[in-house]
Amino acid sequence: MPVTAVADLLSSLREPLFVSSPVEAVASEVRSGLTATPKLLSPWLFYDEEGSRLFEKITELPEYYLTRAERGLFTEHADQIIARASEPTGTDPAPLLTLIELGAGTATKTGILLSAAIRHQHTVVYQPVDVSESALAEATENIRANIPGVTVRCQVADYTSQPLPLDRLPNTRTLALYIGSSIGNFSPNDALDVLRNLRAQLLPGDQLLLGTDLAPGPSKSVSQLIAAYNDNEGVTAAFNKNILVRINRELGADFNSDAFEHQARWNASESRIEMHLVSAIEQTVHIPANSAGPALTLHFKRGESIHTENSYKFTMARVESLLSRAGFQLTQTWQHSQHLFAVNLARAI
Ligand code: AVI
Repeated sequence: MPVTAVADLLSSLREPLFVSSPVEAVASEVRSGLTATPKLLSPWLFYDEEGSRLFEKITELPEYYLTRAERGLFTEHADQIIARASEPTGTDPAPLLTLIELGAGTATKTGILLSAAIRHQHTVVYQPVDVSESALAEATENIRANIPGVTVRCQVADYTSQPLPLDRLPNTRTLALYIGSSIGNFSPNDALDVLRNLRAQLLPGDQLLLGTDLAPGPSKSVSQLIAAYNDNEGVTAAFNKNILVRINRELGADFNSDAFEHQARWNASESRIEMHLVSAIEQTVHIPANSAGPALTLHFKRGESIHTENSYKFTMARVESLLSRAGFQLTQTWQHSQHLFAVNLARAI
């Protein structure tokens, strides 16, 4: 399709949809999680403005190898990834790709793939979807400033619980990016639901690029994994505790985040890292009445934990089976030399 035709099509697309995560959603999530036994909080609560900033900092830590490993794979293989995703199939001759990205954040690594797409097809539409409006604003600004030829249409939305707000251009193929090991933050059943929800909005022949952190093995130790979630500088601890700061600010609670200790634990039987906030003392926390219900008084025993995150680590067999159960066929995997991380290209079938 000529570049001018793409520009014409773009002008017919609807305006971006902005749906911020409302305080009511925070209130009901916090109520159900902290009245459950054992106590838990959902990891999407991490990503207010400060949490998104701390997460960006995590990605630059020496211990957090995930981002570096995935970026290295993109740097080395982006042209091949784009070429393979664009391969003609049957009736679909060498289509133009439109890139969408679930949980795009500030999209720093995505620039490598977008630049490869520009080399391949001269112009590209990129639709990042994320719950953080500030992260998306930064992503849009960076891409517009640095990668000419990319049209960015960001969408503030929760892709896990709503149909994706996708714009599809006629005669194009969608390459959905779900990178950064974000899939690892879902339980196996929820991960399947997320991928099935995505698949339901794709056409056969559309593509998925899935970034997965790998399970420990001969060249990857459990202690390396734990260190990635409990860094020396304490950035991950601050990221974890920020969830309490957010609850105080948004719901008027009185958590003392210094009275909770950040812990990262390896759960071998579930193949996951767990993050916990462990109460250092016996204490009581109050949350005033809000739209989700009456005031809460929460009791914590010393050593009692709030389970805040799971980060699943995959074997290649699990990657393949997850993809195929969601309606995708794995085409190619690019792995880090020390088997730290894998980037998987799959085709919607
Ligand atoms: C966003 N997600 C893939 C990160 C992870 O590694 O599970 C979140 C994170 N939690 C602590 N450090 C990073």
